[in-house]
Amino acid sequence: MTEQEEIRRRMESLRQEIRFHDYRYYALDAPVISDSDYDALLRELTDLEKAYPGLVTPDSPTQRVGFPPLDRFEPFVHEVPMLSLENAMNEEEVFDFHRRVQRLLAGENEIVYVAEPKMDGLAVEVLYENGLLMGAGTRGDGMVGEDVTPNVKMIRSVPWTLRAPPEGPAVPSRLAVRGEVFMDRKDFEALNENRRNAGEPLFANPRNAAAGSLRQLDSAITASRPLKTYFYGVGSMEGWEFTSQWEMLEQLRHWGLPVNPRSRRCPTIKEALEYFRSLAMERDRLPYDTDGVVIKVDRIDWQRQLGEKSRSPRWAIACKFPPHEAQTRVKDIIVQVGRTGVLTPVAVLDPVSVGGVTVQRATLHNEDEIRRKDIRLGDWVKVRRAGDVIPEVIEIVREKRTGAETVFSMPDRCPACEGGVIRLPGESVHRCLNVSCPAQIKAAIRHFASRGAMNIDGLGKETVSLLVERGLLKSAADLYRLRKENLLGLPGFAEKSAENLVASISGSMQPSLPEFLFALGIYHVGSHVAELLAAHFGSLDAVRRATAEELQQISGIGEKVAFSVTSYFSHPANRRLVEELLRAGIRVRESHPARQWGVDATWAGKTVVFTGTLSSMTRQEAAAHVSAMGAKVTDNVSRKTDMVIAGKDPGSKLEKANRLGVVVLNEEEFLDRLKGIL
Ligand code: IVH
Repeated sequence: MTEQEEIRRRMESLRQEIRFHDYRYYALDAPVISDSDYDALLRELTDLEKAYPGLVTPDSPTQRVGFPPLDRFEPFVHEVPMLSLENAMNEEEVFDFHRRVQRLLAGENEIVYVAEPKMDGLAVEVLYENGLLMGAGTRGDGMVGEDVTPNVKMIRSVPWTLRAPPEGPAVPSRLAVRGEVFMDRKDFEALNENRRNAGEPLFANPRNAAAGSLRQLDSAITASRPLKTYFYGVGSMEGWEFTSQWEMLEQLRHWGLPVNPRSRRCPTIKEALEYFRSLAMERDRLPYDTDGVVIKVDRIDWQRQLGEKSRSPRWAIACKFPPHEAQTRVKDIIVQVGRTGVLTPVAVLDPVSVGGVTVQRATLHNEDEIRRKDIRLGDWVKVRRAGDVIPEVIEIVREKRTGAETVFSMPDRCPACEGGVIRLPGESVHRCLNVSCPAQIKAAIRHFASRGAMNIDGLGKETVSLLVERGLLKSAADLYRLRKENLLGLPGFAEKSAENLVASISGSMQPSLPEFLFALGIYHVGSHVAELLAAHFGSLDAVRRATAEELQQISGIGEKVAFSVTSYFSHPANRRLVEELLRAGIRVRESHPARQWGVDATWAGKTVVFTGTLSSMTRQEAAAHVSAMGAKVTDNVSRKTDMVIAGKDPGSKLEKANRLGVVVLNEEEFLDRLKGIL
């Protein structure tokens, strides 16, 4: 094989491997490789493409960076109109729907339903011809939408080619598949945070962020936004038939199209309603916004028989959740001081129920946000609660202004310590600069003790405040000097409770490395980043000594985090705190560096060669599995080969392996050693 040919093959195998991992990650939600190994594959391919631009293929996964910008969107015609759904606002209306379905199906009793979360994003249709992504459009008025093909191609979870198993039937010659484009709440918060820092206008909610990100004339912008998709239906289709909605969802997933794993097949309408209730309970903990559940008649022949009204099908209904927004009045605006000295204005509200939870406070973020939304004391506002995120004021209700509202401005003294407050150039927040400000000390100790950090039970907000105010705590290290005698006699403390607190403090003295790093409260080091640091460096000392360059070697850690970590450990007060904690007896449990997810003794560091065909998976998939376990897959058998895996009709590689005495596994033995992975 010429060198050029070898490189071409390597690039093709990388593309296939990356596509396989995209499928595991996006369609099955079951990755078999760590993020950093995935990044390494992508990096190898990008490097090769840079070195050999002639070998870049248009379907390469690296091409998801943007196409030339458009002047305007072309129309996108939906061959089968995209309908909307009728709403049911309560359970009675769902029973009405069920009775209507029964009546129209001439008294049919056993109607199976499929219940799916109603994603709060925007609907798109994606057209595949012979398995290749050929076009995509927004819903528009249901008949004609906007052609957003380049943008949809930028969404990582939307495959450019449908997967077809080697021995199965081919993919449909034409498939217009429908789904919802959305943004996870966490990604939305991060996007808004970046926009806030950059002084750009914020998105009101994840749905607007998803819509704004998809409807971009420059697809490079879409590529930079964390959009996701779940598919839930088909429009026109040729060369395939489905008999049920459930079968359709499963088949879409086999083709590599992500389908919401929370969808359920419900043998009765009662079970569909139970599903609705349980999703309503879980709603706040879901990673994305939902506004209800869609209940669909499972059998496609019945769907056809039921047909549709002018704008909505008779075989489906949307059961809406109670809204997560409510109106109330701003009684006061107070200012809280966080552990880094940031002053956050908070609206004190007339208590109001938002989606079943009483809300009395909402963050106003910072002064610019208050100005932008023009929030004044006494205003009526719309508040919103999203997940476990702190409630937030969306906008004021201008019609309810009386003229008696008063404008708020940030204080020039810290409300906790009376110290000076400044707003640093380029920052949107005001800060208290006094490092011994009690509010900062309290917040830092609370964070230190919290769950996921040092996990000190029984050290709540009130106790920390009390201990700081009584001068017993000046830093987290003082916790480990507390004796029972110090606590006795303080309000709320008796013999037993004092003992308990001292015991739970000493119980926290052997944190894991990520817990300890997180507890320190370093800027931008949340528990995820702390995990990354621990996995890479293994010990506290190694993290303390790391340079910004070394930190940035870690995938997932950029300049900002690296700078924050190095500046934390170079600051004398912080070094003193860490020393004091260690002197007080804290023993940080070390992590095992480089022991990443899935590295396994059978495979780690081994050189593996495949020959012949496997019946259970393609060679690329098999290669992806073993490389995910730390093995290296090569093409040729040599003395350095550790294992040869021989499928059906193996070639000369098997002979050579036998000649050289290399271990040979047949498919069954191979699968056996993959157990626990598949
Ligand atoms: S089915 C004819 N399923 O809700 C069937 N829609 O109000 C129509 N949506 O435009 C759509 N999740 O944007 C369906 N699992 C789901 C959905 C869903 C979200 C949206 C979709 C549609 C709107 C209809």
